[in-house]
Amino acid sequence: MEVEDILRGFPEQIEEAVGLVKDVRIKGAVSNILICAIGGSGIGGDLLKDYLKKELKIPIIVNRDYSIPEFVDKNTLVFVVSYSGNTKETLSAYKEAESKKAKIIAITSNGKLSKICRNYVLVPGGIPPRFALAYLFFPMLIVLQKLRLIKNKNKDIKKVITVLKKFRPIKAKNLARSLYKKIPVIYASENYRAVVYRWKTQFNEDSKCFAIANVIPELDHNEIEAELNKNFEIVLIRDMKDSPEIKKQTNATKSIIGPINEIYVEGKGLLAKMFYAIYLGDYVSCYLALLNKKDPMKIKKIDKLKRKLK
Ligand code: F6R
Repeated sequence: MEVEDILRGFPEQIEEAVGLVKDVRIKGAVSNILICAIGGSGIGGDLLKDYLKKELKIPIIVNRDYSIPEFVDKNTLVFVVSYSGNTKETLSAYKEAESKKAKIIAITSNGKLSKICRNYVLVPGGIPPRFALAYLFFPMLIVLQKLRLIKNKNKDIKKVITVLKKFRPIKAKNLARSLYKKIPVIYASENYRAVVYRWKTQFNEDSKCFAIANVIPELDHNEIEAELNKNFEIVLIRDMKDSPEIKKQTNATKSIIGPINEIYVEGKGLLAKMFYAIYLGDYVSCYLALLNKKDPMKIKKIDKLKRKLK
């Protein structure tokens, strides 16, 4: 499948992903949530954390390592997410979570994970993990909804699909042109921490270039001092609904850092706006890959590294 087909199919992948969770075999109270995943499978955990920050009463930690934190116990809900099902760090974290008798739900398309974990959501395979975000994120949201840890999200999910179906790639093409031969610097407010990190990693993996991602207010206390030159191109992602303090601070930051590409997220509600920004970034990184004469689907160095670790 071509990358354009995968990107175009993203709204339908969300519709499909929502229906993948049938029954949730988890019993007893949940006192915290751990998401064991890395790379393209890990970003869904960050997005979940940002999106549910104002609602979920228990903490979510995203764990991108071989080992897991000491607090994990039988009351921890652990999502083990690996699209391939064969990622070493994630499989090792799974084993530790199992030894601590945590409540585990895996999300995978195949591989060892589906063989060793009894409780898993099987998602469609055949695309690069980072483009399978719909299949890796929405099942976690549905599980939390089914466990009544969060309110019903059907309306928010519909708003995501609506805004993505209206998306026109021309904006992404223009932005990719301004980023050509530059180091993209992606800024947004704290609510979009996972989103800017996704932009960075998509530039790395799809466009094969370095990129910087940071958020306001944090960057105003360090990175703002770094000297910019013609090699950098800033993209500022903004939300009309940012709080008055953040709006004021973003305007002040903008006046200090100089020329930027300013983008306002579209859609209704935080989830739709996050996914609008993700979708735009995914398109931009793929268009930039084409300008860089790189194949956005291929990740030769990651594959080589994984072979060395076998
Ligand atoms: C590949 C990608 C990578 C993988 C990562 C973990 O598209 O984005 O970052 O996601 O190497 O592999 P999985 O997702 O199979 O656990």
